[in-house]
Amino acid sequence: MGQYEDIYRRSHEDPDAFWAAAAADVVWQKRWDRVLDNDRPPFTRWFAGGRLNTCDNALDRHLREGRADQAALIYDSPVTGTVREFSYRELRDAVALFAGVLRRQGVAYGDRVIIYMPMVPETVIAMLACTRIGAVHSVVFGGFAANELAKRIDDAKPVLVVAASCGIEPGRIVEYKPLLDGALDLAEHKPRTCIVVQRPMCEAAMQEGRDIEWHAAHEGVEPEDCVEVEATDPAYILYTSGTTGVPKGVVRPTGGHAVALKWSMRNIYGVEPGEVYWAASDVGWVVGHSYIVYAPLFHGCTTVLYEGKPVGTPDAGAFWRVMAQHRVSCMFTAPTAMRAIRKEDPDALLLRQYDLSALKSQFLAGERCDPDTLRWTEEVLGVPVIDHWWQTETGWPIAANCLGIERLPVKPGSPTAPVPGWRIEVLAPDCTPVAPGEIGAISIRIPLPPGALPTLWQNDERFIESYFSAYPGYYQTGDAGIIDEDGYLHIMSRTDDIINVAGHRLSTGGMEQVLASHPDVAECAVIGAADALKGQVPMGFLVLKDGVNRPHSQVVTEVVRMVRDEIGPVASFRQAIVVGRLPKTRSGKILRGTMQCIADDRDYPMPATIDDPDILDEIATALRDAGYLSG
Ligand code: COA
Ligand code: AMP
Repeated sequence: MGQYEDIYRRSHEDPDAFWAAAAADVVWQKRWDRVLDNDRPPFTRWFAGGRLNTCDNALDRHLREGRADQAALIYDSPVTGTVREFSYRELRDAVALFAGVLRRQGVAYGDRVIIYMPMVPETVIAMLACTRIGAVHSVVFGGFAANELAKRIDDAKPVLVVAASCGIEPGRIVEYKPLLDGALDLAEHKPRTCIVVQRPMCEAAMQEGRDIEWHAAHEGVEPEDCVEVEATDPAYILYTSGTTGVPKGVVRPTGGHAVALKWSMRNIYGVEPGEVYWAASDVGWVVGHSYIVYAPLFHGCTTVLYEGKPVGTPDAGAFWRVMAQHRVSCMFTAPTAMRAIRKEDPDALLLRQYDLSALKSQFLAGERCDPDTLRWTEEVLGVPVIDHWWQTETGWPIAANCLGIERLPVKPGSPTAPVPGWRIEVLAPDCTPVAPGEIGAISIRIPLPPGALPTLWQNDERFIESYFSAYPGYYQTGDAGIIDEDGYLHIMSRTDDIINVAGHRLSTGGMEQVLASHPDVAECAVIGAADALKGQVPMGFLVLKDGVNRPHSQVVTEVVRMVRDEIGPVASFRQAIVVGRLPKTRSGKILRGTMQCIADDRDYPMPATIDDPDILDEIATALRDAGYLSG
């Protein structure tokens, strides 16, 4: 039996022993009473009774263990021309002081803090400072508009918001503060205080009595120590797209999070303490939480915080420059980023200028990795390129080629095999496993391992309904796929209305709500159309109300603007067409899957329950007329 199989088997035969051994790598103030408490499934509790602190594990322990002068964080920002290193001591001191600021502003154990920030060190400092005092942060990605931020504020009910005056996108400054002000106007819940980082490229207007500038907030403040929290307390909440316009507040449990992420660094990524690890994502996403901030710091690595893009900052050699300059040994990004680089520099000529000898592996996730992109990346980098699969809900990889355990042969198009702790089965609608090679709902047998979500923020009902209602005894991932004869997993598509745009998870349901609110729109549908760069991009189909005789292009321009204003530029919603009617089943369900096949110019089976098959030809014609279909 190979190493992988042996470890995988042990993780399931005796999860208590397996995860207790992993937990020995984490610093606890009090040992747990029980490793696994599954008395009330699916509300699994790991390490109940244990007490620890996330920030202690990320920073202070490394000072005690001799890493005080090692770089903890390298801020590399081509958009501002800055490279700045923080040693573990410097980062700990900055975090302890900001923890003092939060305390001074009345933030207490269990209070929520919303962080709406770009990729600057203050974001990481604010996150860690929250965990230091037992407060619960919720980071909101900067590409979301005021309305989305307002929804998260109303759900999390923060006592305080930390924001920056702006983010920097190639070619434009994104003013965050007016978006925050707009969100606070819209939200019913009103936080007492906003701490604002004023960036030199844009000065935000401050509201007296509520807003405090970052440095001013530090005046006369004393550093705070780490407090002990329960292993089952939330470390953070991260909102992610659900099937409606209302985001889901994924809760991350403190103890399981520290144990699973620490374990993952050596076993999945094959990285040792002291090495430089770089995840080129954004702290607003789960990849950023887990693999820019927490896991590399738990493991005593140096992490890179990159404020830039794969291309355009300044060119398609940007990633290679960062890898070479900081001697990155393990890199993680989304396939989209590699496609963007390849598009501009197909032979990776820019790579020749750089010494990438420190690089040992390249990991990809966030969306399906097409075999072509995987092979190109392997060729140009000459290191193992590992596709791995996970979700905001799980917090760490469910399927991967675990380089630290045993490197299995790579099958392009597959994220390889279940990671120890995760029991993946592919199920038919009657909840029985399908045969190898057959497609079904990818499901995970409960209990889920440490680190996975124990519930949704203050919404146990939605937790059950979203994840556990369709297949009793299993967590429903929302992905469809197959396990092949060799036991390799293949992720094929979502089973719900979530789409993946440039590695960003978005709800088409949320976009439909926006389109439907346009006064001229009677009915609408949004699908994810295939896109060579971003994987998928949203495309809207609009049926106008009777009597509307304005130019269609005008309505389209207006709905595109509305999605940008209400959801945010990250939705990349640029395409919509007006059609006479939408294809539906006889019971009135819109056939989005069939429309997606038409938009992608793929063959599709005629849906047995379709009300009127002629509509499909009308849709194809409309797409052709609008220039979206060539044939
Ligand atoms: N704040 C404000 N706006 C943001 C933003 C942020 N943090 N991030 C993205 N946006 C905006 C962009 O400026 C763009 O706006 P535009 O419509 O005015 O051009 C829009 O949101 C869409 O952004 P994006 O999806 O990033 O597309 P792009 O065309 O600007 O860039 C890539 C394309 C491939 C370079 C980019 O998508 C990329 O780097 N992808 C990697 C994905 C990744 O890291 N995913 C994380 C999961 S691991
Ligand atoms: P998020 O919660 O934003 O991380 O998005 C999770 C979703 O992204 C998954 O449910 C998948 O649909 C998709 N995804 C993530 N990683 C992969 C991968 N390696 N292969 C295919 N799809 C992926």
